[in-house]
Amino acid sequence: MLQAIADIVREAGEIVRSAGNIAAKTHEKTSAADLVTEYDVAVEAFLKERLLALVPDAVFFGEEEALQGDPAKGWTFIVDPIDGTTNFVRGYHQSGISVALAKDGAVEYGVVYDPAKEEMFTAQRGKGAFLNGQPIHVSDKPLSQGIFIMGTAIYNREYLQPTMCLTTQLFARSCDFRRFGSAALDLCYVACGRGELFFEYSLSPWDYAAGSLIVTEAGGVASTLEGAPLPILSRCSVWMCNKVNREVLRELKV
Ligand code: IPD
Ligand code: CA
Ligand code: CA
Repeated sequence: MLQAIADIVREAGEIVRSAGNIAAKTHEKTSAADLVTEYDVAVEAFLKERLLALVPDAVFFGEEEALQGDPAKGWTFIVDPIDGTTNFVRGYHQSGISVALAKDGAVEYGVVYDPAKEEMFTAQRGKGAFLNGQPIHVSDKPLSQGIFIMGTAIYNREYLQPTMCLTTQLFARSCDFRRFGSAALDLCYVACGRGELFFEYSLSPWDYAAGSLIVTEAGGVASTLEGAPLPILSRCSVWMCNKVNREVLRELKV
């Protein structure tokens, strides 16, 4: 199943790689900070058709389409066709295709693919996490020797103040931080040890469903900023880190 999903996602990556005239195919959803391109829609349509052919009785929960069915029961695909749309539109080549397959509300398979770098992150519950077929693990660095990756919760601007407050606290304890603009890839970077920790005050299930399994299967820890398990249906805050830094969250003013 994992290989079949990854093969479909790799094919979808070709739509992203061959995209042209992106600016003319970009539209504002709710504001200039909230964009959708015709490629987001095309990738999601491609994934929907191919993934539902693979698991015909699954519910499809994609960012660009209203949810039909009950994701708490049976199989559910949770899909972000292009995570990092602003990066895609602006030519940063830092975007991921994120697909999770959950059973009865728990993610069993996670695939995140960066079509530009051709990096395929995969995980199956209980079977470890991989980058292009090679096992990956979170780092063993404490934050004092590490970097953290953060997101700015762009669609929920009321979190600006707490985001900056947490960034200041973590920066004081670390070497540096990064803001890459694709939460799904950010999580994979924690999973493979490119960063020690990630946080964002508000993400949707399609941003973190696949990445959270990849992080935990790589030996990391995933929760909300309140320390609760990540829900499968609703927006929430997200915290992920390697094991060494698992106590850091409790020491912070969140
Ligand atoms: C966004 C990216 C970004 C994060 C936002 C997400 P989108 O996803 O993951 O890094 O900060 O919160 O919504 O809109 O590009 O799919
Ligand atoms: Ca996203
Ligand atoms: Ca998206």
